[in-house]
Amino acid sequence: MARREQNFICQNCGAAYGRWQGKCDGCGEWNTIAEESSATARPSMPGRAPRKGRLFALEPLAGAAHDAPRLASALAEFDRVTGGGFVRGSVLLLGGDPGIGKSTLLIQVAAALARGGHRAIYISGEEAVAQVRLRAERLGLAGAKVELAAETSVEDIVATLSERETPRLVIIDSIQTMWTDAVESAPGTVTQVRASAQALIRFAKRSGAAVILVGHVTKDGQIAGPRVVEHMVDAVLSFEGEGSHQFRILRAVKNRFGPTDEIGVFEMTGAGLCEIANPSELFLSERDLGSPGTAVFAGIEGSRPLLVEIQALVAPTSLGTPRRAVVGWDQSRLSMVLAVLEAHCGVRLSGHDVYLNVAGGLRIQEPAADLAAAAALVSSLANAPLPADAVYFGEISLSGAVRPVAQAAARLKEAQKLGFARAVVPEAARTEGGSESGLSLQSVTSLAGLVADIAARGTRATRPDRRAVGDS
Ligand code: TYD
Ligand code: MG
Repeated sequence: MARREQNFICQNCGAAYGRWQGKCDGCGEWNTIAEESSATARPSMPGRAPRKGRLFALEPLAGAAHDAPRLASALAEFDRVTGGGFVRGSVLLLGGDPGIGKSTLLIQVAAALARGGHRAIYISGEEAVAQVRLRAERLGLAGAKVELAAETSVEDIVATLSERETPRLVIIDSIQTMWTDAVESAPGTVTQVRASAQALIRFAKRSGAAVILVGHVTKDGQIAGPRVVEHMVDAVLSFEGEGSHQFRILRAVKNRFGPTDEIGVFEMTGAGLCEIANPSELFLSERDLGSPGTAVFAGIEGSRPLLVEIQALVAPTSLGTPRRAVVGWDQSRLSMVLAVLEAHCGVRLSGHDVYLNVAGGLRIQEPAADLAAAAALVSSLANAPLPADAVYFGEISLSGAVRPVAQAAARLKEAQKLGFARAVVPEAARTEGGSESGLSLQSVTSLAGLVADIAARGTRATRPDRRAVGDS
Protein backbone atom coordinates (compact mmCIF):
# COMPACT_ATOMS: atom_id res chain seq x y z
CA MET A 1 0.00 0.00 0.00
CA ALA A 2 1.30 3.44 -0.84
CA ARG A 3 2.37 5.29 2.28
CA ARG A 4 0.28 8.33 3.02
CA GLU A 5 2.65 11.17 2.33
CA GLN A 6 3.17 13.98 4.80
CA ASN A 7 4.35 17.35 3.70
CA PHE A 8 6.20 19.92 5.70
CA ILE A 9 5.37 23.36 4.40
CA CYS A 10 7.02 26.64 5.28
CA GLN A 11 4.27 28.94 6.55
CA ASN A 12 6.15 31.97 5.36
CA CYS A 13 7.01 31.19 1.76
CA GLY A 14 5.21 27.94 0.95
CA ALA A 15 8.32 25.82 0.27
CA ALA A 16 7.66 22.07 0.78
CA TYR A 17 9.96 19.58 2.49
CA GLY A 18 9.89 15.82 3.01
CA ARG A 19 10.76 16.16 6.69
CA TRP A 20 10.81 18.80 9.37
CA GLN A 21 13.73 21.17 9.69
CA GLY A 22 14.32 24.23 11.80
CA LYS A 23 15.21 26.70 9.09
CA CYS A 24 13.55 27.13 5.73
CA ASP A 25 16.11 27.03 2.92
CA GLY A 26 13.70 28.96 0.72
CA CYS A 27 13.25 32.15 2.72
CA GLY A 28 15.73 31.75 5.58
CA GLU A 29 13.09 32.01 8.31
CA TRP A 30 13.35 29.88 11.45
CA ASN A 31 10.56 27.75 12.93
CA THR A 32 8.14 28.38 10.12
CA ILE A 33 7.91 24.80 8.83
CA ALA A 34 4.78 22.92 9.88
CA GLU A 35 3.44 19.52 8.98
CA GLU A 36 0.41 19.55 6.74
CA SER A 37 -1.44 16.57 5.38
CA SER A 38 -1.45 16.56 1.62
CA ALA A 39 -3.66 13.51 1.15
CA THR A 40 -6.76 15.45 0.20
CA ALA A 41 -4.89 17.98 -1.84
CA ARG A 42 -3.70 15.29 -4.23
CA PRO A 43 -6.05 15.00 -7.16
CA SER A 44 -5.40 11.35 -7.99
CA MET A 45 -5.93 8.80 -5.25
CA PRO A 46 -3.74 5.70 -5.28
CA GLY A 47 -5.48 2.65 -6.67
CA ARG A 48 -7.99 4.68 -8.69
CA ALA A 49 -7.69 4.85 -12.45
CA PRO A 50 -6.72 8.35 -13.61
CA ARG A 51 -9.72 10.31 -14.90
CA LYS A 52 -9.96 10.68 -18.65
CA GLY A 53 -9.74 14.35 -19.61
CA ARG A 54 -12.83 16.20 -20.76
CA LEU A 55 -12.63 17.74 -24.23
CA PHE A 56 -13.09 21.48 -24.51
CA ALA A 57 -13.26 23.85 -27.47
CA LEU A 58 -10.30 26.05 -28.30
CA GLU A 59 -11.12 29.59 -29.32
CA PRO A 60 -9.47 31.93 -31.82
CA LEU A 61 -7.70 35.00 -30.48
CA ALA A 62 -9.83 37.25 -32.64
CA GLY A 63 -13.56 37.19 -32.20
CA ALA A 64 -16.25 38.52 -29.97
CA ALA A 65 -14.11 40.06 -27.27
CA HIS A 66 -15.22 39.32 -23.79
CA ASP A 67 -14.95 42.99 -23.02
CA ALA A 68 -13.70 44.04 -19.64
CA PRO A 69 -16.16 46.71 -18.61
CA ARG A 70 -15.00 48.56 -15.60
CA LEU A 71 -17.14 49.52 -12.72
CA ALA A 72 -15.90 52.72 -11.16
CA SER A 73 -16.46 53.19 -7.47
CA ALA A 74 -17.26 56.74 -6.48
CA LEU A 75 -13.86 57.01 -4.77
CA ALA A 76 -11.69 58.63 -7.43
CA GLU A 77 -8.43 57.98 -5.56
CA PHE A 78 -9.24 54.27 -5.33
CA ASP A 79 -10.16 54.08 -9.03
CA ARG A 80 -6.96 55.86 -9.96
CA VAL A 81 -4.94 53.04 -8.41
CA THR A 82 -7.01 50.17 -9.83
CA GLY A 83 -6.75 51.75 -13.27
CA GLY A 84 -10.28 53.05 -13.61
CA GLY A 85 -12.44 50.76 -11.50
CA PHE A 86 -13.18 47.09 -10.98
CA VAL A 87 -12.89 44.74 -13.93
CA ARG A 88 -15.56 42.03 -14.09
CA GLY A 89 -14.34 38.76 -12.62
CA SER A 90 -11.11 40.25 -11.34
CA VAL A 91 -9.60 39.52 -7.95
CA LEU A 92 -7.72 42.14 -5.97
CA LEU A 93 -5.53 41.57 -2.94
CA LEU A 94 -5.29 44.48 -0.51
CA GLY A 95 -2.42 44.30 1.97
CA GLY A 96 -1.47 46.60 4.81
CA ASP A 97 -0.40 46.81 8.45
CA PRO A 98 -3.02 46.04 11.07
CA GLY A 99 -5.00 49.15 11.97
CA ILE A 100 -3.93 51.09 8.89
CA GLY A 101 -7.55 51.32 7.70
CA LYS A 102 -8.13 48.46 5.25
CA SER A 103 -11.56 47.59 6.62
CA THR A 104 -12.49 51.26 6.75
CA LEU A 105 -11.45 51.82 3.13
CA LEU A 106 -13.30 48.76 1.88
CA ILE A 107 -16.55 49.44 3.68
CA GLN A 108 -16.43 52.93 2.12
CA VAL A 109 -15.83 51.41 -1.32
CA ALA A 110 -18.67 48.91 -0.81
CA ALA A 111 -21.02 51.66 0.35
CA ALA A 112 -20.09 53.84 -2.63
CA LEU A 113 -20.96 51.00 -5.04
CA ALA A 114 -24.17 50.18 -3.21
CA ARG A 115 -25.19 53.84 -3.44
CA GLY A 116 -24.69 53.57 -7.19
CA GLY A 117 -27.27 50.78 -7.27
CA HIS A 118 -24.88 47.82 -7.49
CA ARG A 119 -24.99 44.76 -5.28
CA ALA A 120 -22.03 44.86 -2.89
CA ILE A 121 -21.33 42.25 -0.24
CA TYR A 122 -18.96 42.57 2.71
CA ILE A 123 -17.91 39.36 4.43
CA SER A 124 -15.93 39.73 7.60
CA GLY A 125 -14.03 36.85 9.09
CA GLU A 126 -12.60 38.98 11.86
CA GLU A 127 -15.39 41.14 13.16
CA ALA A 128 -18.98 40.46 14.13
CA VAL A 129 -21.74 41.99 12.03
CA ALA A 130 -22.52 44.40 14.87
CA GLN A 131 -18.93 45.71 14.84
CA VAL A 132 -19.01 46.30 11.10
CA ARG A 133 -22.36 48.08 11.51
CA LEU A 134 -20.98 50.24 14.27
CA ARG A 135 -18.11 51.35 12.08
CA ALA A 136 -20.43 52.05 9.16
CA GLU A 137 -22.58 54.14 11.46
CA ARG A 138 -19.56 56.18 12.56
CA LEU A 139 -18.71 56.73 8.93
CA GLY A 140 -22.24 57.87 8.15
CA LEU A 141 -22.75 54.97 5.77
CA ALA A 142 -25.45 53.13 7.67
CA GLY A 143 -27.98 54.01 4.96
CA ALA A 144 -26.04 52.26 2.16
CA LYS A 145 -27.43 48.93 0.97
CA VAL A 146 -24.32 46.85 1.60
CA GLU A 147 -25.06 43.22 2.47
CA LEU A 148 -23.10 41.97 5.46
CA ALA A 149 -22.11 38.62 6.91
CA ALA A 150 -19.61 37.29 9.41
CA GLU A 151 -18.53 34.01 7.85
CA THR A 152 -15.32 32.05 7.38
CA SER A 153 -16.29 28.92 5.45
CA VAL A 154 -15.45 29.35 1.77
CA GLU A 155 -17.94 26.68 0.67
CA ASP A 156 -20.77 28.44 2.51
CA ILE A 157 -19.72 31.81 1.14
CA VAL A 158 -19.52 30.61 -2.48
CA ALA A 159 -22.86 28.81 -2.18
CA THR A 160 -24.56 31.89 -0.73
CA LEU A 161 -23.05 34.25 -3.30
CA SER A 162 -24.02 31.98 -6.20
CA GLU A 163 -27.62 31.75 -5.10
CA ARG A 164 -29.13 35.05 -6.14
CA GLU A 165 -28.26 37.76 -8.63
CA THR A 166 -24.47 37.93 -9.04
CA PRO A 167 -22.96 40.63 -6.83
CA ARG A 168 -20.76 43.23 -8.53
CA LEU A 169 -18.36 43.41 -5.62
CA VAL A 170 -17.49 40.94 -2.88
CA ILE A 171 -15.12 41.88 -0.07
CA ILE A 172 -13.45 39.13 1.94
CA ASP A 173 -11.89 40.55 5.10
CA SER A 174 -9.47 38.73 5.50
CA ILE A 175 -8.20 35.80 3.43
CA GLN A 176 -6.20 34.49 6.41
CA THR A 177 -9.40 33.81 8.37
CA MET A 178 -11.03 31.77 5.59
CA TRP A 179 -11.02 28.00 5.48
CA THR A 180 -12.20 25.36 3.05
CA ASP A 181 -13.21 21.71 3.54
CA ALA A 182 -11.08 20.74 0.59
CA VAL A 183 -7.90 20.66 2.68
CA GLU A 184 -7.34 19.45 6.22
CA SER A 185 -4.91 22.07 7.53
CA ALA A 186 -5.89 24.64 10.12
CA PRO A 187 -7.14 28.10 9.03
CA GLY A 188 -4.31 30.55 8.51
CA THR A 189 -1.84 27.95 7.22
CA VAL A 190 -0.37 28.36 3.80
CA THR A 191 -2.31 25.43 2.39
CA GLN A 192 -5.63 26.80 3.67
CA VAL A 193 -4.97 30.34 2.48
CA ARG A 194 -3.97 29.07 -0.94
CA ALA A 195 -6.95 26.73 -1.30
CA SER A 196 -9.41 29.36 -0.04
CA ALA A 197 -8.00 31.97 -2.40
CA GLN A 198 -8.22 29.49 -5.26
CA ALA A 199 -11.88 28.74 -4.54
CA LEU A 200 -12.75 32.45 -4.34
CA ILE A 201 -10.84 33.22 -7.53
CA ARG A 202 -12.69 30.41 -9.29
CA PHE A 203 -15.96 31.94 -8.10
CA ALA A 204 -14.95 35.38 -9.40
CA LYS A 205 -13.95 34.10 -12.84
CA ARG A 206 -17.10 31.99 -13.15
CA SER A 207 -19.61 34.58 -11.96
CA GLY A 208 -18.01 37.81 -13.14
CA ALA A 209 -18.13 39.39 -9.69
CA ALA A 210 -15.14 41.47 -8.63
CA VAL A 211 -13.60 40.12 -5.44
CA ILE A 212 -11.32 41.98 -3.02
CA LEU A 213 -9.29 39.86 -0.61
CA VAL A 214 -7.77 41.56 2.42
CA GLY A 215 -4.35 40.18 3.28
CA HIS A 216 -2.43 40.61 6.50
CA VAL A 217 1.07 41.89 6.33
CA THR A 218 4.03 40.55 8.27
CA LYS A 219 6.50 42.70 10.17
CA ASP A 220 8.76 43.14 7.17
CA GLY A 221 5.90 44.32 4.99
CA GLN A 222 5.15 41.19 3.00
CA ILE A 223 1.67 39.84 2.62
CA ALA A 224 1.59 36.96 5.10
CA GLY A 225 0.99 33.48 3.86
CA PRO A 226 2.14 32.24 0.52
CA ARG A 227 3.57 34.61 -1.99
CA VAL A 228 1.66 32.42 -4.44
CA VAL A 229 -1.57 34.24 -3.61
CA GLU A 230 0.06 37.35 -5.05
CA HIS A 231 0.65 35.44 -8.27
CA MET A 232 -2.90 34.10 -8.38
CA VAL A 233 -4.73 37.42 -8.15
CA ASP A 234 -5.08 40.07 -10.84
CA ALA A 235 -3.90 43.00 -8.76
CA VAL A 236 -2.08 43.53 -5.50
CA LEU A 237 -2.64 46.83 -3.73
CA SER A 238 -0.82 47.94 -0.66
CA PHE A 239 -2.21 50.41 1.84
CA GLU A 240 0.56 52.28 3.59
CA GLY A 241 1.03 55.05 6.08
CA GLU A 242 3.12 56.15 9.00
CA GLY A 243 1.56 55.59 12.38
CA SER A 244 2.09 59.19 13.40
CA HIS A 245 0.69 60.69 10.20
CA GLN A 246 -2.95 60.92 9.32
CA PHE A 247 -2.60 60.26 5.65
CA ARG A 248 -2.53 56.93 3.90
CA ILE A 249 -1.23 55.96 0.50
CA LEU A 250 -2.74 53.28 -1.67
CA ARG A 251 -0.25 51.84 -4.13
CA ALA A 252 -0.56 49.15 -6.80
CA VAL A 253 2.22 46.59 -6.52
CA LYS A 254 0.89 44.50 -9.37
CA ASN A 255 -1.97 45.20 -11.75
CA ARG A 256 -3.00 43.13 -14.74
CA PHE A 257 -5.51 45.74 -15.87
CA GLY A 258 -3.81 49.04 -15.16
CA PRO A 259 -0.67 50.94 -14.24
CA THR A 260 1.41 50.12 -11.19
CA ASP A 261 2.88 53.53 -10.58
CA GLU A 262 -0.24 55.43 -9.57
CA ILE A 263 -0.89 56.27 -5.96
CA GLY A 264 -4.09 57.22 -4.20
CA VAL A 265 -3.83 59.55 -1.22
CA PHE A 266 -6.27 59.51 1.67
CA GLU A 267 -6.46 61.14 5.05
CA MET A 268 -7.76 59.23 8.07
CA THR A 269 -10.19 61.48 9.87
CA GLY A 270 -12.77 60.98 12.58
CA ALA A 271 -15.29 60.28 9.85
CA GLY A 272 -13.25 57.71 7.94
CA LEU A 273 -10.91 58.09 5.01
CA CYS A 274 -11.14 61.31 3.00
CA GLU A 275 -9.72 61.55 -0.48
CA ILE A 276 -6.92 64.03 -1.03
CA ALA A 277 -7.25 65.31 -4.55
CA ASN A 278 -4.23 67.60 -4.35
CA PRO A 279 -1.56 65.80 -2.32
CA SER A 280 1.15 68.42 -2.93
CA GLU A 281 -0.74 70.86 -0.73
CA LEU A 282 -0.85 68.28 2.03
CA PHE A 283 2.82 67.34 1.82
CA LEU A 284 3.92 70.97 1.85
CA SER A 285 1.42 72.21 4.41
CA GLU A 286 3.74 72.21 7.41
CA ARG A 287 6.90 73.46 5.80
CA ASP A 288 9.62 74.90 7.90
CA LEU A 289 10.46 77.92 5.77
CA GLY A 290 13.88 79.46 5.88
CA SER A 291 15.75 76.78 7.77
CA PRO A 292 18.74 75.08 6.18
CA GLY A 293 18.57 71.49 5.01
CA THR A 294 15.22 71.43 3.25
CA ALA A 295 14.52 71.37 -0.47
CA VAL A 296 11.25 70.94 -2.33
CA PHE A 297 11.31 68.16 -4.89
CA ALA A 298 8.98 68.36 -7.88
CA GLY A 299 8.21 64.70 -8.46
CA ILE A 300 5.83 62.57 -10.49
CA GLU A 301 3.86 59.69 -9.02
CA GLY A 302 2.29 57.76 -11.85
CA SER A 303 0.65 60.37 -14.00
CA ARG A 304 0.37 62.97 -11.29
CA PRO A 305 2.91 65.61 -10.30
CA LEU A 306 3.61 65.72 -6.59
CA LEU A 307 5.66 68.26 -4.66
CA VAL A 308 7.28 67.05 -1.48
CA GLU A 309 9.85 68.40 0.93
CA ILE A 310 13.16 66.60 1.35
CA GLN A 311 14.90 67.23 4.65
CA ALA A 312 18.55 66.63 5.40
CA LEU A 313 20.69 66.92 8.48
CA VAL A 314 24.45 66.77 8.19
CA ALA A 315 26.07 66.89 11.62
CA PRO A 316 29.67 66.41 12.77
CA THR A 317 30.25 63.06 14.44
CA SER A 318 32.87 61.49 16.63
CA LEU A 319 32.00 57.99 15.45
CA GLY A 320 34.59 56.13 13.42
CA THR A 321 31.91 55.04 10.97
CA PRO A 322 29.51 57.95 10.51
CA ARG A 323 25.81 57.17 10.36
CA ARG A 324 23.83 57.30 7.12
CA ALA A 325 20.13 57.07 7.84
CA VAL A 326 17.37 57.58 5.30
CA VAL A 327 13.59 57.48 5.56
CA GLY A 328 11.42 57.50 2.45
CA TRP A 329 14.22 57.21 -0.07
CA ASP A 330 16.64 54.56 -1.27
CA GLN A 331 19.69 54.00 0.94
CA SER A 332 21.96 53.14 -1.97
CA ARG A 333 20.78 56.21 -3.86
CA LEU A 334 21.85 58.34 -0.87
CA SER A 335 25.25 56.64 -0.79
CA MET A 336 25.64 57.40 -4.47
CA VAL A 337 24.78 61.09 -4.09
CA LEU A 338 27.18 61.36 -1.13
CA ALA A 339 29.94 59.70 -3.16
CA VAL A 340 29.40 62.11 -6.07
CA LEU A 341 29.45 65.08 -3.67
CA GLU A 342 32.77 63.88 -2.24
CA ALA A 343 34.40 62.90 -5.50
CA HIS A 344 33.33 65.70 -7.83
CA CYS A 345 32.26 68.62 -5.68
CA GLY A 346 34.95 68.71 -3.02
CA VAL A 347 32.44 68.24 -0.20
CA ARG A 348 33.91 66.35 2.74
CA LEU A 349 31.33 64.24 4.53
CA SER A 350 33.44 61.50 6.10
CA GLY A 351 33.37 63.26 9.47
CA HIS A 352 29.61 63.78 9.44
CA ASP A 353 26.50 61.84 10.23
CA VAL A 354 23.96 62.18 7.44
CA TYR A 355 20.19 61.91 7.88
CA LEU A 356 17.72 62.24 5.04
CA ASN A 357 13.97 62.28 5.41
CA VAL A 358 11.10 62.65 2.98
CA ALA A 359 8.50 64.75 4.79
CA GLY A 360 5.13 63.30 5.58
CA GLY A 361 6.10 59.64 5.30
CA LEU A 362 5.99 59.47 1.50
CA ARG A 363 8.33 57.03 -0.22
CA ILE A 364 10.08 58.37 -3.32
CA GLN A 365 11.41 55.99 -5.95
CA GLU A 366 12.35 58.36 -8.75
CA PRO A 367 16.01 59.10 -9.51
CA ALA A 368 14.80 62.61 -10.32
CA ALA A 369 14.96 63.35 -6.58
CA ASP A 370 18.80 63.24 -6.66
CA LEU A 371 19.20 66.96 -7.22
CA ALA A 372 16.76 67.95 -4.46
CA ALA A 373 18.44 65.55 -2.03
CA ALA A 374 21.89 66.88 -2.91
CA ALA A 375 20.69 70.47 -2.50
CA ALA A 376 19.20 69.69 0.93
CA LEU A 377 22.40 67.93 2.04
CA VAL A 378 24.68 70.78 0.98
CA SER A 379 22.29 73.34 2.42
CA SER A 380 22.46 71.62 5.80
CA LEU A 381 26.23 71.21 5.69
CA ALA A 382 26.86 74.83 4.68
CA ASN A 383 24.11 76.17 6.95
CA ALA A 384 22.65 77.95 3.92
CA PRO A 385 18.85 77.98 3.70
CA LEU A 386 17.62 77.37 0.16
CA PRO A 387 15.19 79.88 -1.34
CA ALA A 388 11.71 79.04 -0.05
CA ASP A 389 10.12 79.59 -3.44
CA ALA A 390 12.32 77.15 -5.41
CA VAL A 391 11.75 73.55 -6.49
CA TYR A 392 14.42 71.07 -7.57
CA PHE A 393 14.50 68.05 -9.82
CA GLY A 394 17.13 66.23 -11.87
CA GLU A 395 19.03 62.99 -11.91
CA ILE A 396 22.71 62.99 -10.96
CA SER A 397 25.07 60.72 -12.84
CA LEU A 398 28.20 59.21 -11.32
CA SER A 399 30.31 61.72 -13.22
CA GLY A 400 28.59 64.58 -11.39
CA ALA A 401 26.57 65.70 -14.40
CA VAL A 402 22.90 66.62 -13.97
CA ARG A 403 20.78 64.58 -16.34
CA PRO A 404 17.34 65.35 -17.75
CA VAL A 405 14.25 63.61 -16.38
CA ALA A 406 10.84 62.86 -17.87
CA GLN A 407 7.78 65.11 -17.71
CA ALA A 408 9.58 68.33 -16.84
CA ALA A 409 6.68 70.47 -18.04
CA ALA A 410 4.18 68.75 -15.73
CA ARG A 411 6.49 69.18 -12.74
CA LEU A 412 6.98 72.88 -13.46
CA LYS A 413 3.27 73.46 -13.97
CA GLU A 414 2.45 71.93 -10.59
CA ALA A 415 5.13 74.07 -8.91
CA GLN A 416 3.72 77.20 -10.49
CA LYS A 417 0.20 76.23 -9.42
CA LEU A 418 1.36 76.00 -5.82
CA GLY A 419 2.97 79.41 -5.83
CA PHE A 420 6.63 78.61 -6.45
CA ALA A 421 8.60 81.18 -8.42
CA ARG A 422 11.76 79.38 -9.48
CA ALA A 423 13.05 75.97 -10.34
CA VAL A 424 16.52 74.47 -10.39
CA VAL A 425 16.46 71.99 -13.24
CA PRO A 426 18.58 70.09 -15.76
CA GLU A 427 19.51 71.97 -18.93
CA ALA A 428 17.01 70.07 -21.10
CA ALA A 429 14.01 71.13 -18.99
CA ARG A 430 14.35 74.67 -20.31
CA THR A 431 13.45 73.57 -23.82
CA GLU A 432 10.82 71.01 -22.82
CA GLY A 433 8.05 73.52 -22.39
CA GLY A 434 9.71 74.88 -19.30
CA SER A 435 9.82 78.39 -20.71
CA GLU A 436 6.02 78.62 -20.77
CA SER A 437 5.67 77.61 -17.14
CA GLY A 438 6.08 81.13 -15.82
CA LEU A 439 8.81 80.08 -13.39
CA SER A 440 12.28 81.51 -13.48
CA LEU A 441 14.47 78.59 -14.40
CA GLN A 442 18.03 78.03 -13.26
CA SER A 443 19.49 75.22 -15.30
CA VAL A 444 22.44 73.30 -13.91
CA THR A 445 24.68 71.05 -15.97
CA SER A 446 26.91 69.80 -13.18
CA LEU A 447 26.34 69.22 -9.50
CA ALA A 448 29.57 71.07 -8.64
CA GLY A 449 28.06 74.31 -9.95
CA LEU A 450 25.02 74.01 -7.71
CA VAL A 451 27.14 73.10 -4.69
CA ALA A 452 29.37 76.15 -5.17
CA ASP A 453 26.26 78.28 -5.51
CA ILE A 454 24.71 77.08 -2.25
CA ALA A 455 27.99 77.07 -0.33
CA ALA A 456 28.68 80.68 -1.30
CA ARG A 457 25.56 81.74 0.59
CA GLY A 458 26.31 79.60 3.65
CA THR A 459 27.89 80.40 6.97
CA ARG A 460 29.80 77.12 7.24
CA ALA A 461 32.43 75.78 4.87
CA THR A 462 31.57 72.63 2.97
CA ARG A 463 35.21 71.57 3.32
CA PRO A 464 35.76 71.30 7.06
CA ASP A 465 38.96 72.59 8.65
CA ARG A 466 41.58 70.14 9.88
CA ARG A 467 40.21 69.92 13.39
CA ALA A 468 36.80 68.75 12.22
CA VAL A 469 38.21 66.15 9.86
CA GLY A 470 39.64 64.73 13.03
CA ASP A 471 41.90 61.83 12.18
CA SER A 472 44.56 63.81 14.15
P1 TYD B 1 -9.36 49.50 10.35
O1 TYD B 1 -10.06 49.83 9.09
O2 TYD B 1 -10.07 48.65 11.33
O3 TYD B 1 -7.93 48.89 10.08
P2 TYD B 1 -7.52 47.46 9.45
O4 TYD B 1 -8.74 46.84 8.90
O5 TYD B 1 -6.49 47.82 8.41
O6 TYD B 1 -6.91 46.70 10.56
O7 TYD B 1 -8.97 50.91 10.99
C1 TYD B 1 -8.65 51.00 12.30
C2 TYD B 1 -8.05 52.34 12.65
O8 TYD B 1 -8.61 53.42 11.97
C3 TYD B 1 -8.23 52.59 14.11
O9 TYD B 1 -6.95 52.78 14.68
C4 TYD B 1 -9.07 53.79 14.22
C5 TYD B 1 -8.95 54.44 12.89
N1 TYD B 1 -10.21 55.08 12.46
C6 TYD B 1 -10.30 56.46 12.43
O10 TYD B 1 -9.36 57.18 12.77
N2 TYD B 1 -11.46 57.04 11.99
C7 TYD B 1 -12.52 56.30 11.61
O11 TYD B 1 -13.55 56.86 11.21
C8 TYD B 1 -12.42 54.87 11.65
C9 TYD B 1 -13.56 53.99 11.26
C10 TYD B 1 -11.25 54.31 12.07
MG1 MG C 1 -9.70 45.09 9.52
